[in-house]
Amino acid sequence: IFMREGLVILRLLWFSRTAFLRTLTEENRLQKSRITWWEREGSTSPPGVTARKPVDEDETPLPLLSKKGFKTLPLWDFEDIYNEDADPLPDTCADSLRKSKDENFTKAFIPNIRLFSHKDNINMSEWNRLSHFNNPYGFMGFKYNEVMPALKLIPKPEGPMLLPKPGGDGCIRCAVVGTGGILYGSKKGAEIDAHDYVFRMNGAIIKGFEEDVGSRTSVYIHSAHSITKSLLLLKKYGYKSAPHDEGIKYVMMPEGKKDFQWLEGLFKGERISTGPYRNRDPRMYYSGQYDEQRFYVLHQDFLRYLRNRFLNSPRLNSTLWRKHRPTNGAFTLFLETLRVNVYGFITDDYEKYASYYVHKNTKSEFFFRMSHDFFMEKELWKHFHNSKIIKLYQRNEPKTGGKKLKARRERRGKD
Ligand SMILES: *[C@@H]1O[C@H](CO)[C@@H](O)[C@H](O)[C@H]1NC(C)=O
Ligand SMILES: *[C@@H]1O[C@H](CO)[C@@H](O)[C@H](O)[C@H]1NC(C)=O
Ligand SMILES: *[C@@H]1O[C@H](CO)[C@@H](O)[C@H](O)[C@H]1NC(C)=O
Repeated sequence: IFMREGLVILRLLWFSRTAFLRTLTEENRLQKSRITWWEREGSTSPPGVTARKPVDEDETPLPLLSKKGFKTLPLWDFEDIYNEDADPLPDTCADSLRKSKDENFTKAFIPNIRLFSHKDNINMSEWNRLSHFNNPYGFMGFKYNEVMPALKLIPKPEGPMLLPKPGGDGCIRCAVVGTGGILYGSKKGAEIDAHDYVFRMNGAIIKGFEEDVGSRTSVYIHSAHSITKSLLLLKKYGYKSAPHDEGIKYVMMPEGKKDFQWLEGLFKGERISTGPYRNRDPRMYYSGQYDEQRFYVLHQDFLRYLRNRFLNSPRLNSTLWRKHRPTNGAFTLFLETLRVNVYGFITDDYEKYASYYVHKNTKSEFFFRMSHDFFMEKELWKHFHNSKIIKLYQRNEPKTGGKKLKARRERRGKD
């Protein structure tokens, strides 16, 4: 039963699946009135653009839409419709998210949302539908011939990415490990390593920090940018390569055109022919652990679903919309929302820690970026923790001063 095709993730484990699916359409219809952050004015197409839900007869690519044509995030009438996967697995965990008491969460949650792209799931009408959304949520402004060849190479996952450990209670326990300075001196390493699966992302430096961050990596989430840039940025801390534990699973978060160039080279086992990574051999970056059966590419609809239903930021309603996107950590956390313990993510007392555990006790100014809304994410993690959706690692030390600084930083974060 576990090998049923396309079943990718175990957070999709629901007992009353049939009943749930029956109500799903209705839930979607009600979405806008129930979830306040979704209630934006004018959920219609921007002026001058004819919205249409692409149909199966599409034979040619949609003429290119340009991000520059939209002052704020365009909302299409098929905005909240997503590519869904096959039926979820039966729920084997007595303590699953299905029992979340957070009504808003269960309403927004789609158990069989498609997590990963693969070559058999993309065709011209899908291309045209997804061309209405900016990257990483779609292909707006990308030329068909530049991206489609890579999409057509993505292997089809053979089964779910994660399975419960044999002989266990049917639950899957995951640790999602961020890079926050809160981990330095935490001594959480053994606890992290004791999970069934350990997720890491970006510059996941381990050597020398095992006691605090653990040493195992079961799933590593990255983009072409993060896997290449981390090597340079963290070289001085002894970082030599992305995690490459035996049997590790790699998840690619395709941010832009350069990621599809990366994927094309990776799948073909060739040097990249064009773009910023021209002449590089992507397979080199996986230290011999690249295996197409263990390589996953996040689906654009999964990312848009998260943005629309969980990570909606007021910035989308401004000219910042083109640059804004949730952090890789945020996307990672949702990949596996069943029994997740989260370490090294931003907390209320973030000012007390370095922005990255590799900086040890050096309290660098928290590094805010225009492209991310850390405050929105911080509030969401806190809310999820309080609603028992996740367990967020926090330190229970009394809060100390720094109010002025905080206000200043918050202002800057909003800039
Ligand atoms: C759910 O959303 C409503 C409307 O935004 C809000 O008033 C309520 O407090 C939320 N419930 C929870 C449990 O967060
Ligand atoms: C294109 O792909 C989508 C998503 O997999 C599918 O629903 C649709 O039926 C496909 N259309 C054609 C013409 O194959
Ligand atoms: C978005 O912007 C419009 C126009 O400036 C405003 O009326 C609306 O309240 C804003 N919505 C959100 C959710 O910020």
